[in-house]
Amino acid sequence: MIQLQDYIRDIKDFPKPGVLFKDITPLLANSEASALCLEGLLSLVEDQKIDKVVGIESRGFFFGTLLAQKLNAGFVPIRKSGKLPYSTIKEPYSLEYGIDVLEMHDDAIKKGDRVLLHDDVLATGGTAKAACKLIEQLGGIVVQCNFIMEIEFLKGAQKLDQYELRPLISY
Ligand code: PRP
Ligand code: MG
Repeated sequence: MIQLQDYIRDIKDFPKPGVLFKDITPLLANSEASALCLEGLLSLVEDQKIDKVVGIESRGFFFGTLLAQKLNAGFVPIRKSGKLPYSTIKEPYSLEYGIDVLEMHDDAIKKGDRVLLHDDVLATGGTAKAACKLIEQLGGIVVQCNFIMEIEFLKGAQKLDQYELRPLISY
């Protein structure tokens, strides 16, 4: 049986000194590991009804769209500023290495939609928190936030304590 951890590569000092980057490209490059990851993420959702899967640019897109297909849900991208073509709502956020704005189309979620938020990594939690705010601004219900991995020492879970957080792997 393969282990997902064996397909996540540590890159020291990327994108800046002191940051240990968790690189999932080996996982994406291996179909067995990717299938195992998707299966794991799906099992976290259990039998909950999901209307929309929201994935965060860019690494949240890989499994976000696959999850949406498997859950018979729509997929909604959250993107960094200036990338979405239609009218958007915006939320500023700070992350481990920088500050930016996240945007979502203002018609992407309907009031009462049951939403699964997905991203690859939960680190400081700034990104996921801003994403939850965008979903809620449009009246969506954040049913669960799932991640391939959580970096526990960065304490992102504390910022998101009102949400159901499900990481597949904890470091
Ligand atoms: C990384 C990662 C998460 C976020 C987690 O994305 O993919 O989205 O940081 O950090 P946080 O919990 O401290 O907010 P990044 O902004 O590097 O962009 P990318 O996905 O486009 O590579
Ligand atoms: Mg990201």
